[in-house]
Amino acid sequence: MMINIVRRIAIMALTAAALHSPLSMADTMEQSAFAAMGGKDGLQKIASLGMDNVLNDDRIKDKFTGANIPRLKLLLGTQFCALLDGGCVYGGKDMEAAHKGMNLNDADFNALAEDFRNAMIDLGVPNRHQNVLLAKLAPMEKPITAH
Ligand code: HEM
Repeated sequence: MMINIVRRIAIMALTAAALHSPLSMADTMEQSAFAAMGGKDGLQKIASLGMDNVLNDDRIKDKFTGANIPRLKLLLGTQFCALLDGGCVYGGKDMEAAHKGMNLNDADFNALAEDFRNAMIDLGVPNRHQNVLLAKLAPMEKPITAH
């Protein structure tokens, strides 16, 4: 049931933007999501709680054995902030290099996306704003799982 939910959300969000907004409104969608999530601090909380969910998720938690979790949380928070045009510069590896050799598949990707979605739900982020961030993550599925 979660299979492809990220892709569906991405299409919904992009379709909504195309139907209801001129192209110049695209930034506003991101920036209103950024504000609704509490800015950079709020996104850091989403990254932190999302990673806590991942580490409690039996489907994927073993993939993170030996990972530097505090560092990963900080990189994710900055990455989310950059994705929503919040004025941050993501300084980590690109997604293909970061996940090379991990043998990740679509189910792993969808499990992680669900864990981050649940973090946003628990932090009270409205659905439409959740979808803006998830739509930004959707194109990462291929580089993350392709090797
Ligand atoms: C939208 C999905 C994802 C995003 C945005 C994401 C983001 C990141 C980022 C920013 C890093 C750090 C890069 C660096 O070291 O410079 C990273 C590393 C990593 N990711 Fe992902 N990732 C995603 C999906 C996944 C999935 C599905 C898994 C496994 C189930 C995973 C496992 C890891 C692991 C194990 C590391 C290395 C951490 C370490 O060595 O400290 N990621 N990811």
